Amino acid sequence: MTNNLSKKMNGFPADFLWGGATAANQVEGGYDAGGKGLTTADMVPFVPKAQRGLNFAIDVNSDYIERALKGEVEDRYPKRDGVDFYNRYEEDIELFAEMGFKAFRLSINWARIFPNGDDAVPNLEGLEFYDRVFAALNKHGIEPIVTLSHYETPLALSRKHNGWYSRELIPLFVKYAETVFNRYRHQVKYWITFNEINMMGHSPYTGGGVLIDRIPGRTKEQIAYQALHHQFVASALVTKLAHEIDPSAQVGCMLARTQTYPVTNNPDDVFLAQHYNDLNLFHTDVHVHGEYPSYMNRYFAENDIEIQKEIGDDEILKQYPVDYVSLSYYMSKSVAKNPENYEAVSGNLVTYAVKNQYLDTSDWGWQIDPKGLRITLRDMYNRYRKPLFVVENGLGAYDKVEEDGSIHDTYRIDYLKKHIEQMKEAVLDGVDLMGYTAWGPIDLISMSTSEMSKRYGFVYVDQDDEGNGTLNRSKKDSFDWYKRVIATNGEDL
Ligand code: BG6
Repeated sequence: MTNNLSKKMNGFPADFLWGGATAANQVEGGYDAGGKGLTTADMVPFVPKAQRGLNFAIDVNSDYIERALKGEVEDRYPKRDGVDFYNRYEEDIELFAEMGFKAFRLSINWARIFPNGDDAVPNLEGLEFYDRVFAALNKHGIEPIVTLSHYETPLALSRKHNGWYSRELIPLFVKYAETVFNRYRHQVKYWITFNEINMMGHSPYTGGGVLIDRIPGRTKEQIAYQALHHQFVASALVTKLAHEIDPSAQVGCMLARTQTYPVTNNPDDVFLAQHYNDLNLFHTDVHVHGEYPSYMNRYFAENDIEIQKEIGDDEILKQYPVDYVSLSYYMSKSVAKNPENYEAVSGNLVTYAVKNQYLDTSDWGWQIDPKGLRITLRDMYNRYRKPLFVVENGLGAYDKVEEDGSIHDTYRIDYLKKHIEQMKEAVLDGVDLMGYTAWGPIDLISMSTSEMSKRYGFVYVDQDDEGNGTLNRSKKDSFDWYKRVIATNGEDL
């Protein structure tokens, strides 16, 4: 038995990166503090539940943005205030340290560094904010895992260039990345280029600041694949840059992985599931294999998708693949050739799915599937042979604060425990897994609904959907549970 194998047979490797994950736009607040510019996320209003349909996708159009900037709408924008991590990061990081975090995934808000995205020089106050955050993490021996772009395209770039639909964003993003790579090279080793890059197909505005109403005559899909191409090239270029600036840097891509099952074993359903899995894994295929997979050729032709590439793009993709593959995993989905025969359900970045009779659902209707995580990790590792990193997983749920202030979130513990068990099985199956950062270790603003009441945290934040509350932090039952999980390297669940 080799050392490696015997190490894995014991479960998680000793250097496994346990921790939690957040995004600047969902926790920081301080949306106009320290010279920060507006981002696309700052313009996403709160939409009450009654007005959200199944598979509600956050999106705004250009008319809405212009009216909102002129103060002509009266919406609330919870992501502008987040949970005040901007001012309370020390206290929050101390709580993460108390849980024993080895790693903390966060994003740098591009518009804190370049408020308009194309400024000649970076904003010093923004850089200094992250200096302080990384110093606090460093003090506690917590490894930062930094996402360069987590739905935080500077709004100015959306208005001026229509976001990632334009190639102009590639050099601007490279300049931003160069700035932060140089500044934080001694503090940060692990980088992620684009969070859930497949968001582009779901919401081009959220994924890349693209306002599709400004591109008449083209389908959302045609627009999204063009914008994605620009992000793929940018991702490869910054991967190259990170390695040049710091040869020990590790750069990963990130996918919202939705393991897709056929609802029956009818080959028509099986084929459809395979097709959806390919459409999802296409994004990581490009990042790892450095080329567009051939199975997309027919899809592009049949959907009239013609991607404008420049000479040299293909070589860039080929030369600079990622070092590791990171993913979010919340749920699986099922598909049917005849969906009208089944109940429709919702989910993360899901526009179409039918009910899987074997699975429970979360309060938000997402289908909970721990074993799907093992299946996904095995599939992805077989496909890529690169280290994998689960950088998001968790349960969005309503929490009840008891009179004595305690919060008994057994449902969250149950969800996480079952997923960690399956992750461990995947490691025993031979998957090279770098770490696990649970989503929202502290309650934050929901990406899809901008609600506060959809909570993921081990740490409770006293704030409601209307933005009322003290913002005080308190520990839920899951806090001590996760602390024990980390202390025992995933043995005591
Ligand atoms: C992922 C995103 O899709 O899911 C996060 O990367 C997001 O930003 C998370 O918060 C959970 O989704 P939601 O909609 O419950 O916040």
